[in-house]
Amino acid sequence: MTDYKKIRIALDGPSGAGKSTIAKKIAEKLGIVYVDTGALYRTVGLYSIENGISADDVDSIKASLKNIDLRLAYEDGAQKVYLNGVDVGDRIRTPEASRYASAVSKIPEVRAFLLDVQRNIAAAGGVIMDGRDIGTVIIPDAELKVFMSATPEARADRRCKELAEKGMPQPYEDVLRDIIERDRNDREREASPCVPAPDAVQFINDDYGIEESADYIIGLIK
Ligand code: DC
Repeated sequence: MTDYKKIRIALDGPSGAGKSTIAKKIAEKLGIVYVDTGALYRTVGLYSIENGISADDVDSIKASLKNIDLRLAYEDGAQKVYLNGVDVGDRIRTPEASRYASAVSKIPEVRAFLLDVQRNIAAAGGVIMDGRDIGTVIIPDAELKVFMSATPEARADRRCKELAEKGMPQPYEDVLRDIIERDRNDREREASPCVPAPDAVQFINDDYGIEESADYIIGLIK
């Protein structure tokens, strides 16, 4: 069996392409660790929410960083984020936390603040890291970089199904507009925009299911 103890895989791409589900599957199959870097931005956002800082108050968000101690832990293959010693759990998964994560991720000081924790995890090896700038900024010398996306229409379709299954249906047009808007923000922001590294494999997975996408990337890894 091949040993993946040292490998570092960067999996970048816009929201809704299935990065986290697919990365988790790959990690499980190869016995490596899945690192969810979006959780770090969500946690910085959570600190602002819980301390009454508004999402557009850049100065207060920057000042809050000195009060934030972030730690990542991996327990039974699952990632936990500790904010000042307390597991954030699902508090980082609310729609408000998503909105704050998007706001704080535009601030260069926040990105710089989260650099070391991400690079330290990467340095250990045996990781697949999902995010927006893993291949361009965090580990530009990763053994494999994949930029995974799907057309906005395919992602909107998937998202609508997901929301309907959760009993929260939304009109397709609204979901699609949201995705296009978020893509533009991610791609056009000045600090670490979400763009493929020049040497990344670009993978558009419109016609691939979760399992097939995971197998395709595992093929690249092998
Ligand atoms: O992947 P996610 O939805 O959990 O990410 C939350 C937010 O953080 C999203 O707005 C994009 C941003 N993000 C980022 O800018 N860079 C990363 N490496 C990961 C996430």
